Order: sequence, then C-alpha cells, then structure tokens
Amino acid sequence: MGVKYNDKEKQFHLFNEKISYCLGVSPDGEVGHLFFGKRINEDQTLPLLQSRGIRPLMCNLKEDEDYTKELALLEYPAFGNGDFRSPAYEVLQGNGSRVTNLTYHSYDIYSGKKSIPGLPAAYTNSDDEATTLEITCRDDVAGLEVVLFYTIWEKYPIISRHASIRNVGTDQLTIERALSCCIDFPDQDYNWLQFQGAWGRERVPVERNLSDGITAIESMRGHSSANYNPFVIVKRANTDEENGEAIGIHLLYSGNFLAQAEGDVYGRLRFEMGINPKWFSWPLKGGESFETPEVMITYTKSGLNDLSQNIHSFINNHIVRSNYKNKPRPILLNNWEATEMNFDEEKILNIARKGKEAGVELFVLDDGWFGKRNNDYAGLGDWFVNTNKLPNGIAGLSKKINELGLKFGIWIEPEMVNEDSELYRAHPDYVLGAPDRARTLGRHQMVLDFSKKEVVDNIYDQLYGVFADTDISYVKWDMNRSITECYSLGGDPDKQGTVYHRYIMGVYDLYERLRKAFPEILFESCSSGGSRFDAGILHYAPQTWCSDDTDARERIRIQYGTSYGYPISSIGAHVSASPNLQTGRATTIDARANVACFGTFGYELDLNEISEEDFERVKEQIKFMKEYRELLQFGRFYRLSSPFKKNLSSWMVVSKDQSTAIVAIYKDIKQPNEPVSLIRLQGLKETALYTLNGEKEFYGDYLMESGIPSIWNEEPWYATEGDFTSKIYVLKSNVTK
Ligand code: GLA
Repeated sequence: MGVKYNDKEKQFHLFNEKISYCLGVSPDGEVGHLFFGKRINEDQTLPLLQSRGIRPLMCNLKEDEDYTKELALLEYPAFGNGDFRSPAYEVLQGNGSRVTNLTYHSYDIYSGKKSIPGLPAAYTNSDDEATTLEITCRDDVAGLEVVLFYTIWEKYPIISRHASIRNVGTDQLTIERALSCCIDFPDQDYNWLQFQGAWGRERVPVERNLSDGITAIESMRGHSSANYNPFVIVKRANTDEENGEAIGIHLLYSGNFLAQAEGDVYGRLRFEMGINPKWFSWPLKGGESFETPEVMITYTKSGLNDLSQNIHSFINNHIVRSNYKNKPRPILLNNWEATEMNFDEEKILNIARKGKEAGVELFVLDDGWFGKRNNDYAGLGDWFVNTNKLPNGIAGLSKKINELGLKFGIWIEPEMVNEDSELYRAHPDYVLGAPDRARTLGRHQMVLDFSKKEVVDNIYDQLYGVFADTDISYVKWDMNRSITECYSLGGDPDKQGTVYHRYIMGVYDLYERLRKAFPEILFESCSSGGSRFDAGILHYAPQTWCSDDTDARERIRIQYGTSYGYPISSIGAHVSASPNLQTGRATTIDARANVACFGTFGYELDLNEISEEDFERVKEQIKFMKEYRELLQFGRFYRLSSPFKKNLSSWMVVSKDQSTAIVAIYKDIKQPNEPVSLIRLQGLKETALYTLNGEKEFYGDYLMESGIPSIWNEEPWYATEGDFTSKIYVLKSNVTK
C-alpha cells in the first residue's frame, strides 16, 4: 500500500493489493485522471487518454493547440475553460467572474489520515492503516487554493476523498459549488444502482442505465432523506451479487446532496457527488477555507456482495466511533408502538417488567416523556420531564427500570420545536423561517435554527441536564420533518446560502458534544424511521432506526436494500405487534423475529398483550439472539436471493473462521403445489462438514454448488402455514476433510 510519485511524468499512483487510483498533471497544469480500477503495476507510466485530437468547435490551449479540456479526464474540473461538462466547483470572484483555472502547485504524501473539522470522516486506528496524498492546486488570479485529499487504505479497496477550498488572496470569494469528488470514467458502459423510497419503504434498489446526458439523484430536504440515499453504485450491466465490476460511492454527509453521472457524446462518464449546489453559496474571506464532506469510493471486480462486505467492515472499523464499536448491541424493548404518548409510570414499568422476564436488556422510553407532550402539537423544545406522567421524573423512572435489571434509554428530537412550547414562546427567533412569511409545518412542528450556536448551546444545556441526572445508556435521536423556508432569522442576507450546511454542522456539533460528555451512551439515529440513514450520521450514532415500517414482509425488502451500503449492525430492527400497525398485515411472531434478527434486534410492543405461546417464542428468540448476535451483526453478510425478484428471498452471514453460518429463507406468498427451489449458499469452507440445525450434514462445497431446498423431501409440500413464512438454519462445522 502506498503512493508512488513519478517525478518525471508528474504522476501519482495510489495502490494497495486490490486497487490502483492514478492521477497526474495535464499539459495545462491541471490535475488529470489516469486510471481507477483493479491493481496495476505501479511502475506503469500512464498516458492521458485521448485528450488530444482537437475537433471543430472544441477549445484548445494557446500554447498547445492539440489539447482540449473537452476531452480530458479530470480530477476536480473548473468552469469556463473549454470543459463543457458539469464542474466540480464554482467560485464567484469580486469582479463578477466565475472563470477559474486551478493548476498543480505541490504535493504531500504521509502515513495516516487527517480528520475534517466539524464533519464526519473515516479515521485510522494507527497511521500504518492508510496513506494520504494531498495535492495543492492554485489559481493565482482568483487568489484561490484547492487541496485535494486522497487516502488509500491498506486493507480495503477503498479511496477516501475530499477537497479543501481556501481563499489565499484578500478579496472575498463566494463558493457556489463545492462537490466532494469528480470521477471521470473513460467509458460509459455502466448502469447505476440507486436506493430510493419514501417513508415506510426506504432504500429500494433501482437500477438505471447510464448513457448520454445526465442521470442524477439529490436531496433538498435538509436531511439525506428516504427519497434518495447518498450512496450510489456504478456497475457494469452484467455485474451481479457474485461477479463483476462495481464502484460504490458514499457521501459522508447527512444534509442536501447531489449525485450525478453525466455521459458525454464522446462516450465518457463523469460521476460527481457532494453537497447539493442548489441554494448553496459560501462567502470566503481572505485566509478562510471551506471543507467539503468526504466521499468513500469502494471498488470491486467480484460482485456486489464483495462490494457490500468491504463497505460493512470499513464502516464498522473506520467510520463508527462508539463504546459499542464492533460490539454486539443490547436487545431492547421500545414502548412506542405499544403506548405512543399515552402512558404513565406504572404502564411503562409494567411493559418493562415483562420485557425483563423475556430476557430483554434495555428498556427505551420513546416520545411523550417531556414538556406538555401528550400529542404531537406540543412539547418539542422543552427537554424537562412531564411530571403528570412521570411524577418521579426521568431519574426516578430510570432508577426503577435499573432495579428491574434493565438498562434505560430515552427518545429525543433535539432539532425541533412546537409552537406550543416554552422554548418557542421564549425564543421565537430560534426557528428557521423566511421573514414576513408563513411557515410550513411538518407534524405540527418547526425546525430549530441549528446554524446558530446559541440554539445548539440551549439544546445541549437542556439535554445535558437530563442525561447527567439519570443513568442513561441509550438515546434514540429523531428528526421528524424536512426543512422548508430555510432562512436564518436576523442573519446576514449574504450568508443565507450557508444555512443548510451550517444546520447540519450544528447537528454534528451537538452530537459530538453529547458523545464526548456521555461516551457510554449508545446513540441510535432516526428520522421518521430511515430518512437520515447515511454514512455521515454513523460517525456519531452507530445504528439507525431503519424504518417505521415494522411489517415483517416489508422489512425484508427494506433491510435487503439497506444492506448494499450499510452494515447489519447499523440496521435498527424490531419485532412489533400483529396485525402490523403500518400495513394491517398479520404474520407470526417467528416471521417477524426471523427478519429483525438480521439487525440490532429488539421488540416494539407490549409483551403483556401477546399469547402465552408467543411469549414462550419470544423467550426463545432472545436466547437465540444472545447466542448469535455477534455473528448476525458482524459476520460476513451475503445476499442470496432478492425479494424484489423472487417469491423466495434469502440472505446469510458467515463467521470469520467459516465455522458457523446462519441462513434465512423467506417465502412471500404461499402457492399450492409449489415448485422446489434451491438456495445456493456462499462463503462457506468447501471442505468443511456442516450440520444444519444440529440435524442434517453437508459439505460446504455441496451447499454452495447445489444448495438448500426450499422444501425438504420429508416436509409436506401441501403445508398449510400460509404466506410470509421463513426458516432459519444455523450451520456449524468443526470438521475439515
Ligand atoms: C418517529 C419515529 C418513531 C417514533 C415516533 C415518535 O416517527 O420514527 O419510531 O419514535 O417518531 O414520535
């Protein structure tokens, strides 16, 4: 692993055992792209691809009439110099010009990786895990300096990138576009996979064909959103789970974003990702700098499972920071679907007691414990206990929960305020809203102006009071509406284009301060379920409530889609009541648990209200989860059969030493006289003899080349179980042929 610099050709080659990323200085001094893909020989000198051969209507350099930016592959392209594709950045200068031209100035190569002030970023645990290349480019006319950061990781086929834009002159500059990366691919024969949806049906994989013109997804909602996730896979058309080339690009950012692929008429493809340039403008005085968020670029030539596995491991080891990093997560019981806001201390204790009896480890008190929060018209912003419901306070309740032998967790929604709240009455200027205009509400609430430090300080002080007073070991941090009328009241008119970004920086700041003050707390992020599920938020909260949709059938789809870009240990998944609150669908308690166990696992119902038989199953499920959660949450995860394509879907996890695996097979709709399918397993040791649920024995090669049948010979093919049934197989081996 390292970065090789070829001084003669001015070329940089970042490489590890798996990948190479090569760039160099173009004839006009700009930083050009040379290669990205599977590892190639680092001594190779790379030609600039077809950037010569001027054709009519192309613009060229005066000094080199044969070179045109229109054909060049570039690393951080500018606007206005003959490259007519989308630029990576745009800077407005004092004279009204947006034309800039960055030329290579210097480089630095060092072990390790720097953090990015105020933003999430991948980190090393020791300097030898990564090497960083910094390339400094300058535009002396504009007084502009841009440093491009590239980090190559020793153990992962991953490059981390971001840019730092600096005003090194004296005149003010305004950044109007500052993307995190541009990757110019020399050909266009790619599809892309985006993860889209809405509330209750998040992260559905949708494949689109890339060709000429622009393909893009974005968020302008102020959070990364359920609509489009800030993670995209650019892949060859025939790449599947087991084979083929693919590149996954994550933006480590939880605010407005843009991901765009632009095919040009010369058969090239420009991929760009970063903060959404819409309504973004950032004034930069002399001496100031602006940091873009980071992107994480993962490469594979071995299919989408391999891509996801590298991503999972990388996020767990280099993005997540928490006392719970790489640790099995507590089995929790949340009262939301059981009580909503209608509870008192006794009701809560009653639910918690039954949870303890079942084997639950953590009780989470959801929305409704604070201020005048009896419905969603009031209370947000007032982070002090509602003593009508909880006369002994949060401290009193948590003590009683602790005495039951359970840990205690709590729900907050710190970024929001209701009109009916003490906070809003005291500080009406704390909310975002355009002057003299009505504000749009979302769930009857307004968004606090987290671009203002005093607002973040106020919420920090309030929450600090609650957390310090109580033995809290878990916090669910919610965010239940998108941002509208994004204007910071009383703020400088010239700085309103900074508010969306400053807002999310305020969110990160609050997270960081609370994390530091209470390192023992496990944070779970949430945004009406999974509307802010991104690699940035995982830097602060290692798990995210994946969706408000807890229906077992729907959850297979949501968790399947989520697994492409995010580790199983980050996927909040609970067993809720049946019929399901979101869909009205009835499923068995096992069907629900068999999906939720491929996640952080918990319950979201009143266990007093289920049948004795189901309660016995719950006890068994918790026992199973305690035994296998480490494997389920951190094992090597394989998608085997897609619920979006087949009636029978399946996934599995395998332990690092391949001695243990857990396979889940889910049937959607029961058909009479149905055909038998074989589910071919993956990741096992070919020569190892595995027992399935302690009964049948098979060698790994047979299970991978032939597979597990959906119905065994001895099972009745006319089974009457009905729809949405599932099977879990535990495979164990200690014998190798
Ligand atoms: C959101 C969350 C739910 C629950 C409610 C409480 O919708 O996604 O899990 O916490 O808020 O109001």
